[in-house]
Amino acid sequence: MIKLLRFDEKHLERASEIYCRAYSSKPYFERINSEQAKEIIKSILISNNCLCFAIEHNSTIVGFILGFVQKGKRHNTFHIEEFIVDPEHQNKGIGSEALAMLEKILAEKGIYGITLLSHKKGAMEFFKKHGFKETNWVLMWKRLKNGGR
Ligand SMILES: CC(C)(COP(=O)(O)OP(=O)(O)OC[C@H]1O[C@@H](n2cnc3c(N)ncnc32)[C@H](O)[C@@H]1OP(=O)(O)O)[C@@H](O)C(=O)NCCC(=O)NCCS
Repeated sequence: MIKLLRFDEKHLERASEIYCRAYSSKPYFERINSEQAKEIIKSILISNNCLCFAIEHNSTIVGFILGFVQKGKRHNTFHIEEFIVDPEHQNKGIGSEALAMLEKILAEKGIYGITLLSHKKGAMEFFKKHGFKETNWVLMWKRLKNGGR
């Protein structure tokens, strides 16, 4: 049995360790240190309408869900920015349980649906299994000349 706790400052240290572990392993293999991870997480926490949770299992933080409520013309939706379970605790049903709890909380708040970006080689199968569908919207990207300095 897990708990979804409202994410706060005291979860930051542990969450950044989990972030690094998750993204430095399969299928992402990104080079990231915990200071960078902390900055990324903080940037989400200060965004407008953010709604973030730490996932607790047996009194240990084993993951987190970071996102925000997007105001729409007709409905409000929740956008998941990061949904991570510590690789040491993956494949035990924790992600599925956390997603089900999140959906219940959001529905109670009158949220209409959930959006997220998923890497095709990443957790796409996980989300599909939980009822998410691909849309006609495509994320587009352009590398800027002299960008990234
Ligand atoms: C996606 C994630 C949150 C799932 O958490 P979890 O606790 O492992 O989830 P569960 O144990 O409930 O379910 C695991 C299922 O998802 C599948 N799954 C998870 N990641 C997968 C991946 N990268 N590719 C294919 N399948 C994947 C597992 O194979 C497993 O399938 P099964 O039930 O058929 O055996 C976790 O894998 C994770 O943190 N991944 C890295 C970060 C990420 O990609 N987050 C999503 C984008 S924000």
